[in-house]
Amino acid sequence: MKKKLIKKAIEVSQNSYSPYSQFKVGAALLTTTGKIFTGTNIENSSYPAGVCAERVAIFNAISAGEKEFQMLAIYNQEQDKLFYPCGICRQVISEFSKDLPILVANDVDNYVETNIKELLPKAFKL
Ligand code: THU
Repeated sequence: MKKKLIKKAIEVSQNSYSPYSQFKVGAALLTTTGKIFTGTNIENSSYPAGVCAERVAIFNAISAGEKEFQMLAIYNQEQDKLFYPCGICRQVISEFSKDLPILVANDVDNYVETNIKELLPKAFKL
């Protein structure tokens, strides 16, 4: 399942709209019902209006009525390093899961596994 999820993240990264950064990101989110929701980063000429791949995947799942998540895979093609989710995405992930496993990948076979508790300890919560 981990490789399948990373493959989905790689696929969706091809749809990235990132003419300003040229940084294509793909995210694939597995829900507890076994469905996979994907997202890619979508930029804008008004830079702050852009959105990260992870949030698009999560918002797609929520919009479909899915609120319980099993695993998130994030892909970027950069081969020299692995990119971890930004602070805003960590906060959004933590809204829905306290210990979501997260795969950070730059290839199907090259990834590290972490989780939201490790990436955002002591998350803000109302
Ligand atoms: N980006 C993501 O999609 N996810 C992250 O976790 C970090 C950054 C996107 C936002 C922007 O389109 C591009 O990568 C460069 O920051």
